[in-house]
Amino acid sequence: MEKRKLVVFTGAGVSAESGLRTFRDSDGLWEEYRIEEVATPEAWRADPRKVLHFYDLRRAQVLAASPNAAHRAIAELEAHFEVQVVTQNIDDLHERAGSSKVLHLHGEIRLARSTADPSLVVPVNGASLAWGDRCSLGSQLRPHIVWFGEEVPLLPRAAEHVAQADVLLVVGTSLQVYPAAGLLQFAPAGCPVYLVDPGNVAVRRAGVQHLRRTASEGVPWLAARLVNGEA
Ligand code: APR
Repeated sequence: MEKRKLVVFTGAGVSAESGLRTFRDSDGLWEEYRIEEVATPEAWRADPRKVLHFYDLRRAQVLAASPNAAHRAIAELEAHFEVQVVTQNIDDLHERAGSSKVLHLHGEIRLARSTADPSLVVPVNGASLAWGDRCSLGSQLRPHIVWFGEEVPLLPRAAEHVAQADVLLVVGTSLQVYPAAGLLQFAPAGCPVYLVDPGNVAVRRAGVQHLRRTASEGVPWLAARLVNGEA
């Protein structure tokens, strides 16, 4: 029998229990940094070293972190469902937990790309991407990250996945950043949509079942129910 398609849409909350800070919680990254100074094309033009330093810190933390029970439960669901992960996260914890199909809407911290040719993407060796690190064309490399104000090139592909979902599981996202948050609207009518997040998320889709638990508790719990047909 063909497996049902499960799309898992994740945000910073799925990696919180791996020690990676979220953005908008009380101790979130956007409390400490100003978005306009580290995560926009204007910031890059004004002070690229500051931007590179911000992402070097993020990369070092990702390298030191490990997947948690939520990442692992999502990977293990591949035995029962055709699982497509769509993540807003730039870490690689889904991949390291064993998920085989992961689409990174907002880029990947372990990759860099050419400022001359956006299709030229290379791995970052180690924790640091420095001013003066150049691509094969001789241009400065920038973090392979979608900054505020930039296009989200993988959005149409992500929307197609969500439109084909038999079940949609949303984990650890405040759903405040568009266009990513709009993905929920692409789920077919009648597709069960679950949200695992301990916070008060403003969900703009009717019928979403909100499980107010942390990712490492809530996702394995819900995964077990999805597998045995109780959810
Ligand atoms: N388990 C599950 N969810 C959690 C946990 C946890 N242990 N801890 C916190 N959360 C939830 C919070 O309740 C909140 O709803 O994670 C969510 C984090 O929200 P944000 O910090 O806004 O992160 P996210 O939604 O991923 O942000 C989207 O914003 O700055 C950009 O590009 C960045 O991809 C990011 C985008």
